[in-house]
Amino acid sequence: MFIGAIGCEPLQLARVHLEHSHSLEVYQQHGGYASLRKVLTSMSPDDVISEVKKSALRGRGGAGFPTGMKWSFVPKDSPKPKYVVCNADESEPGTFKDRYLMERDPHLLIEGMLIAAYALGAKTNYIYTRGEYRYLIDIMDRALEEARAAGLLGAKILGTEFSSEVYTHTGAGAYICGEETALLSSLEGLRGHPRMKPPFPAVSGLYASPTVVNNVETLTAVPDIIRMGGEAYQRLGTEKSGGTKLWSVSGHVNRPGVYELPMGYDDMEKFIMEDCGGMLGGKQLKAVIPGGSSVYIMRADQIIGKDVRMDYEGLVAGGSSVGSGGFIVMNETVDIFESTKNLTEFYKHESCGWCTPCREGTDWLVKVFKRIANGGGRPEDVQLMLDLCDNIEGKSFCPLGDAASWPIQSAIKRFPEDFRKHLMVNGQN
Ligand SMILES: Cc1cc2nc3c(=O)[nH]c(=O)nc-3n(C[C@H](O)[C@H](O)[C@H](O)COP(=O)(O)O)c2cc1C
Ligand code: SF4
Repeated sequence: MFIGAIGCEPLQLARVHLEHSHSLEVYQQHGGYASLRKVLTSMSPDDVISEVKKSALRGRGGAGFPTGMKWSFVPKDSPKPKYVVCNADESEPGTFKDRYLMERDPHLLIEGMLIAAYALGAKTNYIYTRGEYRYLIDIMDRALEEARAAGLLGAKILGTEFSSEVYTHTGAGAYICGEETALLSSLEGLRGHPRMKPPFPAVSGLYASPTVVNNVETLTAVPDIIRMGGEAYQRLGTEKSGGTKLWSVSGHVNRPGVYELPMGYDDMEKFIMEDCGGMLGGKQLKAVIPGGSSVYIMRADQIIGKDVRMDYEGLVAGGSSVGSGGFIVMNETVDIFESTKNLTEFYKHESCGWCTPCREGTDWLVKVFKRIANGGGRPEDVQLMLDLCDNIEGKSFCPLGDAASWPIQSAIKRFPEDFRKHLMVNGQN
């Protein structure tokens, strides 16, 4: 599997190939914790937020919200404790970048979290991982212990007045616990149900206190932003999407892996056909889901010859979105009806059951998919599925409902032939 950068110097993946890359010694030999030292000795919390704003870093967990702006929403005058929570749930199907960052460069995450904690005045911080990442917790805990022993974590960090702790916590493997408010409920020991927004976590999050929730990839970008300066980081990408982005590439390419690309990489066809080694077995490209299972599926003819730019604006213009960067490539042998059925079963299974449109709607969608797959499909079933999606999208309590609808809506629109061939016409398939 390939892990590395294309079209730029590696930033977040700079150390992942070094022997003992997870150790404090190797991290510090390669400049590690210099950014933390810099902020603690020569920058105010506002300076840090200002650099992150200038970097045009956008949250890498899926929604792409500007990170500096999110940090600036935390009320400075609140008497309550403040928290930084790292979202390491990595539950979006097709996404597997955060695990490499934590496995191979855990100190980069710790440094990023401590810089965020300094900027926000947080004394207690958590890394929340999915239950299946138990092995990563061991790696993170060892790295936290090393940092603590070296005076980089805990009381009076690096001999300054700044004290802050980081703890790890695992969920039990529920997709919904990647949604930030469900994650906070789970972290509090409650069932992982999403919460009403507003209030947003920045104002009322963990234990009803101001909380910043950021993805692993977002937080691990911060030490480089401080090292090189926000503007220089921004210039690696585009005006609105600064820096580099990790893409977890899976499916029918010769070279799957984790790719670090500059934001705005031009273009998606070249990325698949050259950088990822082209299509496996020389087969034709049929479809790509570029940003994890929840985003719109793209047809090959929306990619080939279309110069789709790989950043937030470019992908929206191309007919999908960056999402989590879970880049799933499918060849001509894939039946999009089958792949969408598979995804819908996932969403039905992961629906937390809190609200009716999502709980009932995903269940009905799976029933219709199964009936069609078993040979009982009717011509009106495609419209029935679209109607069901329409009753979920925008009408559910949290974005999981939308995430369940979009793959189906886009698959029916863009691959109608794959649905049609499963339907009975005049009582026959
Ligand atoms: C159903 C659902 C699952 C999510 N799963 C994840 C996840 O596994 N990891 C993640 O970082 N964000 C996930 N998110 C997004 C988070 O709610 C939140 O936007 C993110 O943690 C914010 O961090 P960022 O600004 O650094 O992207 C999910 C959202 C939804 C609706
Ligand atoms: S949309 Fe689905 S996952 Fe979200 S609250 Fe409703 S039932 Fe739960």
